[in-house]
Amino acid sequence: CLESKNYQIIVLGGGVAAGYAAFSYVRMGGESNQLAVLSEEPVPPYERPSLSKGFMDPDIRMEPSEFYTCAAIAQLPQDEKWYEEHGVALYLNTRAQQVDVSTKKIISENGHIFHYEKLIIATGCRARKYSPSQVPFSNLDGILYLRNIEDANIVRNWIDELKGQGKAVVIGGGYLAMEITSCLVSNNIQVTMAYPGDYLLNKLFPAQVAKQYEQVFRDKGVELLSNCFVENFYERNDGFASAVRFQDGRKVSGDFFIVCIGAIPNTELFQGQLQLQNGGIEVNHRLQCVGFPDIYAVGDVASFPLKAYSNRPVRIEHVDHSRKSAASAILDILHGNPYGNTKHRDDPRLSIFRAAVDTTYDYVPFYYSRMFDLCWNFYGDSSGTAFVWGYVPSKMVTLWIELSSKVVGILLEGCSPFEHRVAYRVAVNRPKVDTSELQRITEASQVFEY
Ligand code: FDA
Repeated sequence: CLESKNYQIIVLGGGVAAGYAAFSYVRMGGESNQLAVLSEEPVPPYERPSLSKGFMDPDIRMEPSEFYTCAAIAQLPQDEKWYEEHGVALYLNTRAQQVDVSTKKIISENGHIFHYEKLIIATGCRARKYSPSQVPFSNLDGILYLRNIEDANIVRNWIDELKGQGKAVVIGGGYLAMEITSCLVSNNIQVTMAYPGDYLLNKLFPAQVAKQYEQVFRDKGVELLSNCFVENFYERNDGFASAVRFQDGRKVSGDFFIVCIGAIPNTELFQGQLQLQNGGIEVNHRLQCVGFPDIYAVGDVASFPLKAYSNRPVRIEHVDHSRKSAASAILDILHGNPYGNTKHRDDPRLSIFRAAVDTTYDYVPFYYSRMFDLCWNFYGDSSGTAFVWGYVPSKMVTLWIELSSKVVGILLEGCSPFEHRVAYRVAVNRPKVDTSELQRITEASQVFEY
């Protein structure tokens, strides 16, 4: 007979969004013993971005307890004691095996049955992996991925083993591949980066910007190989991977391989029950699932309408959205739809959640990444034509201008906190600019009309 537990709210998932949901619930005055977090992971929710930053940094070597949520905003890592003291039930090592949305029931692999009134789906993504049937020998030892603490520990063990003498091959050209490469270089490991595009981070960066970051990597001794599509890996005598071969015949050897080829949303529990979109779970402006107002989806797994950009449905795999969407769902559950309710807007406890305070969820995208001593921040939408000023690594600004001459997106490197605040305001207000004038000037600040 399985043990049964009832909660008013269950957050399914134990990542960034789950941690911020718990934090918001407590901050917004939610009652004790009414909220549970179910996580398959062995540690409390943590700031996942730290895995490819402080956790691998040879000088810092942060431990997970230093970056449990909400270390990034409250300088208060929520350990298990925090959950206990605030009456939030935290179930670790508890993987949901089955969810029945019609009876509001969750069954976990370790034999619990949970009943909820409201469910917040925060199952995030998992690393996309090669399958050995498509990429021969891709299941060899020494071919690594990075999504969770377990993966990060494995990568860090390899780093410790080969520090100062080893060679790694990073496969992928997105921000995660760039961050991992930076960590490896800081640990004196030689790196080749091999990626499918013509240049790094081609989903966001214009070529002109990417080339500048590429030069930074080259200056640090990293070998960059573009247009690489993996064909197969090779096996050493001891069962470890020794080399990777690309479709055009190029072959690169290494001691270990870190594969960063994207992420897959964890939606399987809900297939056939909830409406899917963009590979994730479709939600409305209040982050409620279509036809199920008691079920919310937040973070990486949610496909939501981007209100500020013609309600285009998007799935955003970045940490700022996971934090704010979690807070927004909690606000909606605790206080109903407070749209137009200024009481909540004026509540100083909520000021940290700009997007949440105005529920419905009106999100202006914000992404960032850090590598070496660089840090780029992006605000808004990268559609339209890109105009670039300045240079990485000192100071660079890129503006994306739509056909209507509105600025819709901004990328900054090497800018001050004030300039970041301005960039956010610009992404929110989307001022019109004179594009012919824009061609001629080099000082971005001269073109904004506030
Ligand atoms: P997240 O993946 O954090 O959490 C999902 C949780 O659900 C996990 O704990 C998972 O185990 C659990 N789960 C899934 N299925 C379950 C089940 N059936 N039962 C129980 N639990 C289940 N973004 C950014 O803007 N800047 C950055 O620099 C970085 N850096 C970065 C580095 C690395 C290494 C990664 C992997 C990712 C980033 N990101 C980032 C992305 C950012 O971390 C990501 O957007 C958030 O973690 C998403 O938060 P979620 O809570 O939605 O998913």
